[in-house]
Amino acid sequence: MAAHNCLLLLAVAACLGFAHAAAPVRNPVDCVSSNLLSITGDVYPSTHQITRQSIQERTTVTVAQEFEIAYGNTYKIVTIAKSDTNETYLLYQCGTTKPVLSQIGLPEDTKVFSVPLQAVSVADTTAMYFMDMLGVKDRVSYVTPYVVDPCMQLLSSSVCGGRSSDNAPADAVDGKFGFYKDANASNSIMISATVELGPLHAAEYIKYVAAFFNREAVANRAFTAVYNAYTDLSASVLSYKTNNNVASPVVAWLYYQAKYSSSPEQIQVKFHSFRVQYTEDAGGVLPNLAQLKNVLANYTDVKVNTVGDLVLYNLNSTNTAAALRTILADVDIVIDESYVPGNVSQYTVASFLARYRLNESTAATDFKFLRTQNGLLRLDGTANAMGTTAWFEEAVARPDVVLHDLVTFIMPVVLQAANDKTAPRLVRSLIPVAPSTTSADGLLTLSGSGATVLTSANCPLQRCGSTIQPICPAVYLDCSGKLVTATVERPCPPTNCLNGTSGGAAGRAQATPLLLFVMLLVAAMAATAWRW
Ligand SMILES: *[C@@H]1O[C@H](CO)[C@@H](O)[C@H](O)[C@H]1NC(C)=O
Ligand SMILES: *[C@@H]1O[C@H](CO)[C@@H](O)[C@H](O)[C@H]1NC(C)=O
Ligand SMILES: *[C@@H]1O[C@H](CO)[C@@H](O)[C@H](O)[C@H]1NC(C)=O
Ligand SMILES: *[C@@H]1O[C@H](CO)[C@@H](O)[C@H](O)[C@H]1NC(C)=O
Ligand SMILES: *[C@@H]1O[C@H](CO)[C@@H](O)[C@H](O)[C@H]1NC(C)=O
Ligand SMILES: *[C@@H]1O[C@H](CO)[C@@H](O)[C@H](O)[C@H]1NC(C)=O
Ligand SMILES: *[C@@H]1O[C@H](CO)[C@@H](O)[C@H](O)[C@H]1NC(C)=O
Repeated sequence: MAAHNCLLLLAVAACLGFAHAAAPVRNPVDCVSSNLLSITGDVYPSTHQITRQSIQERTTVTVAQEFEIAYGNTYKIVTIAKSDTNETYLLYQCGTTKPVLSQIGLPEDTKVFSVPLQAVSVADTTAMYFMDMLGVKDRVSYVTPYVVDPCMQLLSSSVCGGRSSDNAPADAVDGKFGFYKDANASNSIMISATVELGPLHAAEYIKYVAAFFNREAVANRAFTAVYNAYTDLSASVLSYKTNNNVASPVVAWLYYQAKYSSSPEQIQVKFHSFRVQYTEDAGGVLPNLAQLKNVLANYTDVKVNTVGDLVLYNLNSTNTAAALRTILADVDIVIDESYVPGNVSQYTVASFLARYRLNESTAATDFKFLRTQNGLLRLDGTANAMGTTAWFEEAVARPDVVLHDLVTFIMPVVLQAANDKTAPRLVRSLIPVAPSTTSADGLLTLSGSGATVLTSANCPLQRCGSTIQPICPAVYLDCSGKLVTATVERPCPPTNCLNGTSGGAAGRAQATPLLLFVMLLVAAMAATAWRW
């Protein structure tokens, strides 16, 4: 069946290639030759090492950065040292001799990789998006079926033989990016460090992924571009507000969780991690949590979980409804983060009201955010047909895009003043026009601005993967092996490196359902250990 589908496509060779999983074949152009090595000695000059930027963020981040890379002449040592987990990888340049672990002070069970990696399995969509930005997406060989990027959706589909990371044969890939440390798989690479960091710190993990592909120079430039775009925009927002004496809209981040196993149905009003930073940098402010805790102290169905979110239970009870009305009374903008299975375009203001048990006939009177243009936002501006959002793929890598999207809705005057008309892509508004100017019965009939739902049909070339381009060692001018003093990078395809993919392809959460599940579970567990 898969073979038939392949024949229907033009990319017969690519399809057949994929039909037989086999050990990755090293393109010798990736490697350094011994002749050249004897002349240069060092294949990782300082221009091709990661640079570190001092990042100041509002979010409390106790550890400045949780990964380190030390460079030798022909190898690099990548370490992740977090409070709960740590891991060390030895990466050595292909064409050079594999270092002896004991001679460089590493334990015998250190995972060793010959780089650049050739064929990887990517269970984590953030890693996939970083690879896209680095111009090495052609080396994705297996990918999570929850991916949004259309060509990656195609790759994981049955048309391409189901190249899902869930079933990547161990010997068919030389690296497996996943969320967790897996001590048992010698080629697994952990990329879990992004969850609780501030947005810019998390985005710097592009440099971590880059090390596995010798793309540090590209990563340094891409991160600087993202960093500058983010800080320029947040500075513009701040100066506009100061100069024009603009008040900060109150922004509430809501999450609805259906009953799941032993975890009861609940509504979370979130205050933790990246939300403070994004809200304030976009010109808004979170609700006053201390005041709410006071006012709600006697509501038995309202708890505070260990990460500081308000959690509401017994959603049908009038007390819970009253608590939610209290929380939302002064809110100008609600961001509904909750998961919608299937076609997210069909989620409207009415769906939101039903999900959060808000009375449709009084909602517009009760809540000013429902009377406000752009008062109700979703993080599903772009998604796949299963409802997995591009936010989970792209948000970690592109805080500049996230901030721009949020400013579009929270402080639009700043972008108007700069004549910036870039459309949002990760965030969308369910109330895109002023309710008073649309229909007599107001906002509840509005269908929202719709989301972009991407499927494999949106992949332009309909090919199973692409031809793997070499990544020449940094000591070559070109891939002919000619020694030069200057160095050049493999050029970037038109839609990546410093640029986001136009087709959209985010997570926090890197949302494989497993992770989502674990996060929900953690949230649920945290909520049961509540405290005031
Ligand atoms: C990694 O963590 C383990 C267990 O917490 C600890 O024994 C070990 O020393 C740590 N290794 C490094 C390199 O930090
Ligand atoms: C790793 O292998 C050990 C021993 O076989 C097993 O107990 C453990 O569950 C495995 N861990 C993972 C993450 O698969
Ligand atoms: C909560 O209950 C206590 C004890 O009944 C009472 O003293 C307090 O005023 C109540 N607080 C609020 C905010 O209603
Ligand atoms: C709450 O109300 C909804 C809709 O009105 C209903 O489907 C659901 O069964 C109710 N849940 C409980 C626990 O009573
Ligand atoms: C999703 O729903 C919208 C609105 O109903 C529709 O226009 C669109 O075609 C649907 N997309 C997919 C992929 O089903
Ligand atoms: C919704 O509000 C209307 C108007 O106050 C009221 O008549 C109706 O009973 C309410 N519905 C629910 C389900 O509480
Ligand atoms: C991305 O590429 C498009 C098309 O080439 C271009 O119009 C856009 O300005 C680029 N964006 C960035 C941030 O470089």
